[in-house]
Amino acid sequence: MNPHSDSRPGHGHGPGHGHHSADIDWDAMAAHLENGGELQLPVLHRTAARLGELLGPGAEVRRILDIGSGPGVMTCVLAEAFAGAETVAVDGAPVLLERTSARAERLGLGGRVTVRHAELPEGLHGADGQGTDRGLGTADLIWSSKTVHHLGDQQGALNALSALLRPGGLLAVAEGGLPMRFLPRDIAIGAPGLQTRLDAVQEHSFARMRAELPGSVPVVEDWPAMLRRAGLTGVGGFTYLLDLPAPLGGTARTFLHAQLTRLRDNASDLLTADDLGTLDVLLDPEAEQGILHRPDAFLLSATTVFTGVRAADDERRAR
Ligand SMILES: C[S@@+](CC[C@H](N)C(=O)[O-])C[C@H]1O[C@@H](n2cnc3c(N)ncnc32)[C@H](O)[C@@H]1O
Repeated sequence: MNPHSDSRPGHGHGPGHGHHSADIDWDAMAAHLENGGELQLPVLHRTAARLGELLGPGAEVRRILDIGSGPGVMTCVLAEAFAGAETVAVDGAPVLLERTSARAERLGLGGRVTVRHAELPEGLHGADGQGTDRGLGTADLIWSSKTVHHLGDQQGALNALSALLRPGGLLAVAEGGLPMRFLPRDIAIGAPGLQTRLDAVQEHSFARMRAELPGSVPVVEDWPAMLRRAGLTGVGGFTYLLDLPAPLGGTARTFLHAQLTRLRDNASDLLTADDLGTLDVLLDPEAEQGILHRPDAFLLSATTVFTGVRAADDERRAR
């Protein structure tokens, strides 16, 4: 599956009647996104710790923005990791923001997590249209996972996010990584190599999704270069692996079932009849060979995070 789209827990494109991002119905994906986020919790905690290291030991982190926060799993991880900060979840899907608030309450973080409804990219720009107005306010840390690629002008979005950073602040975008793996090469149904073919379908589907976005601008997806163009320094990246071996537990199986269901709904025109038949067996809740029961299903995914720092004002002037 494509590294950018349905390939990772908590991530994906679906059909529907959504209000943004090329008609993806994000509200309908709430449970799936939260499920996927929870599977990623070990990776999210390590990521938050790494962001703390990148900000440096003396850094005062008072305000964090999670842009395209989904159900708020990482929002809450960030609030836990940066106990002195107010963390703001920003998303265009009201149901996901409600989930975020409920999650924060459950975890005892309610006082420090707030939610903000915003349609992107418009919501990134303040009333002055420069991204410097306090529409979303400024932040010491901006996190955005698997969201920038849903915006037509990815470079424009990064520029606007960079403008919201306080001097010394860090922007971290989780984009890319590796296609998720969850089945052996030969699964004894259909032709071997299904996952590789699904990757190709996902690539096609992803390109179609991007082409249909309002104001879609082609760009070489060199994220470090894009962060530098957004005016950031100290640009780098890191990748963490999620490795859930077989046999999988129920949460991971439910996640994969939902993932494959969306792929089938979304890209059936791109799949061969043979592969559609295989997917039907994998999706059959009663079938022993189905994803809900088969003993060989595992989950391996790699998430890459690209980071950059907004230089302090005097350093910027000196450059
Ligand atoms: C793939 S989900 C990622 C959620 C979460 N950050 C994660 O990594 O699991 C993308 C999120 O971005 C939000 N989103 C996508 N396009 C948006 C837009 N144009 N305006 C506001 N929110 C948007 C969706 O509602 C969804 O919550």
